[in-house]
Amino acid sequence: MGPIGIFDSGYGGLTILNDIRKRLPEYDYIYLGDNARTPYGTRSFEVVYQYTLECVQKLFSLGCHLVVLACNTASAKALRTIQQNDLPGIDSSRRVLGVIRPTVEQLDQLTVTGHVGLLATPGTVQSDSYPIEIHKLNPEIKVSSVACPMWVPLIENNEHLTPGAAYFVEKNITELMEADPEIDTIILGCTHYPLLTPLIRKYISPAVRIIEQGTIVADSLKEYLNRHPELEQQCSKEGSCRYLTTESTSKFNASASIFLSNQVEAEHLTLF
Ligand code: DGL
Repeated sequence: MGPIGIFDSGYGGLTILNDIRKRLPEYDYIYLGDNARTPYGTRSFEVVYQYTLECVQKLFSLGCHLVVLACNTASAKALRTIQQNDLPGIDSSRRVLGVIRPTVEQLDQLTVTGHVGLLATPGTVQSDSYPIEIHKLNPEIKVSSVACPMWVPLIENNEHLTPGAAYFVEKNITELMEADPEIDTIILGCTHYPLLTPLIRKYISPAVRIIEQGTIVADSLKEYLNRHPELEQQCSKEGSCRYLTTESTSKFNASASIFLSNQVEAEHLTLF
C-alpha cells in the first residue's frame, strides 16, 4: 500500500490537492512540486515529457500506485506518452491520471451557446490538447484559446493581487472575448489560475461561467477509485500528506501558504 501522488511543476497543483483532500480526506498523499524546474508552460514537448516522467518515476519509487498530474501542461504534453509507452514497461498495474479529460467531460452540461474559451499556459495552448479532447466528445463546440504567459510568474511571485496582474488579466480576457463574443464558459486550464478568479471576474460578464478544475478532478478521482477497487486497495489511508520540492524547502513553505490555508513543512527532493 502507498500514498496517492499529486504532481505539479510548482505550486499550482496545490489548488487541486486542496479539493482532493476535502473530497477524499482518508487517503495518504505525497505532493511533489518540481519547483527547481518550473515553469513548464514555456518548455518544449520533449523537456516537459522528460521532466514529468522523472517525477512520476520518483513518486512510484516512494510507493505511489496512482499519480495524478495536477498540471495541465504535463497532462497535455506528457500524459498520453507515459500511459501508452512508459507504464507498460515500468509496472502495468500503476496508473497516471491527468486533469484535462475530467475537465472537458463537464463541458456539455455547462455551455449553452456551445462557445467555450480556454485560458492556459503557452504549452497547453500550443499542444491543442483541449480542442482535441473536447471535439472527441462534442465536435460542435467552438473553442477559442488564449495563452497567458505572465499569469504563472505573477502568481508564483505573489504579485497576483497587484495592478500589474490586473493589467495582464484584462489584456488576455479582452483578447479571448474579442476572439469570440459568444463564449459563455471559460476553462481555467492551468492549476495556478484559480488564484486569479476574483480578478478575472472583474473583466467578464457575470453570465460567463468560469470552470476551475479542483472539484472536478476530485470528483473524477473519487469515481475512478470506486470503479477500480484493485487500485483503491493499494492506497493507504491514514489521512497524511507529505510535501516534496526540488527547490529550497523554506521557499516552498513560504510560497505554499499563498495556495493553502495551513502551514506546511516540505522536504527537499533530489531527483537523481
Ligand atoms: N500549473 C501548471 C499547469 O496547470 C503550469 C505551471 C507551469 O507553467 O509550470 O499548466
